[in-house]
Amino acid sequence: MPNENKKCKCMTKINERLDNCEHYQKFAKYRDQILALSNDSLEKTIAIALSLCFVCAILVSVSAVALKPLQIENKAMDMKKNILDVAGLLDDGANIHQAFADKIEAKLVDMETGNYVEDLDVDTYDQRKAAKNPAQNIIIPRTLDIASIKTKAKIAKVYLVKDGNNIKSIILPVHGYGLWSTMYGFLALEADGKTVQSINFYDQAETPGLGGEVVNPNWRALWAGKQVYAESGEVELKLIKGVVDTNKAGAEFQVDGLAGATLTSTGVSNLIKYWLGSEGFATYLAKITTAD
Ligand SMILES: Cc1cc2nc3c(=O)[nH]c(=O)nc-3n(C[C@H](O)[C@H](O)[C@H](O)COP(=O)(O)O)c2cc1C
Repeated sequence: MPNENKKCKCMTKINERLDNCEHYQKFAKYRDQILALSNDSLEKTIAIALSLCFVCAILVSVSAVALKPLQIENKAMDMKKNILDVAGLLDDGANIHQAFADKIEAKLVDMETGNYVEDLDVDTYDQRKAAKNPAQNIIIPRTLDIASIKTKAKIAKVYLVKDGNNIKSIILPVHGYGLWSTMYGFLALEADGKTVQSINFYDQAETPGLGGEVVNPNWRALWAGKQVYAESGEVELKLIKGVVDTNKAGAEFQVDGLAGATLTSTGVSNLIKYWLGSEGFATYLAKITTAD
């Protein structure tokens, strides 16, 4: 009952204010005129339709603004989940933020020197945005752009799984064009910087069942233990057409191609070649694997 009284008082106050508002009086006059028209009149139909559009537009705008922080939070959590997943550290039911904070260390890397960058905030740095910002990116010459990405960020965000001071895994962001889309993912390497632990594409728009099989856990499992570099130091790891014959020499550098998706498969091979090569993380990997 006291709540009902409060509501009534509130409504009375709002009505009083509206009654005293000159603009509302004008609006009320037009509203009454419109409502008095016949339901079949063109003016009334248009006025009602416009009012409905106006109210809906306000509702959509308010929802978009109100939900923005939630969307940002969900996006950040999803990214952490992907990183934990590729590191093999994703436990069902675990608190993602806590698990990420406990197990993963994010680092910024200068792509040219392979050195860590300490004077930027690693938490807020967004490599994907930086890759599109002329002040923060490098235009890739066409002859070197095997992943078809046109530009890359000068500074990359990598993730380390550590056991005390020892690195257990190195997680590298990779991306490249498939058939229909740029595929964004993470590649986890063992501490030696050349043995694959896992791969995970978290953003791609290839055809489900064909190129979209890049997210299939069975196909992803084929990557574990594969070797990236040949003796010469060149990136040798690639997808082949068909199934890898594990009895043949070189099988450690090969992963099964995706059936019916040769172009996506070529895209994956190309992005691996680019990001693990001298234009990508090769300089950084050489530095951290010889550092200790
Ligand atoms: C509807 C449709 C969707 C396709 N989606 C993909 C895809 O996501 N990735 C891909 O590599 N090929 C896709 N393909 C197949 C390619 O068009 C192409 O045939 C194939 O990649 C080339 O393989 P091949 O050289 O072994 O014939 C699709 C084909 C069709 C008809």
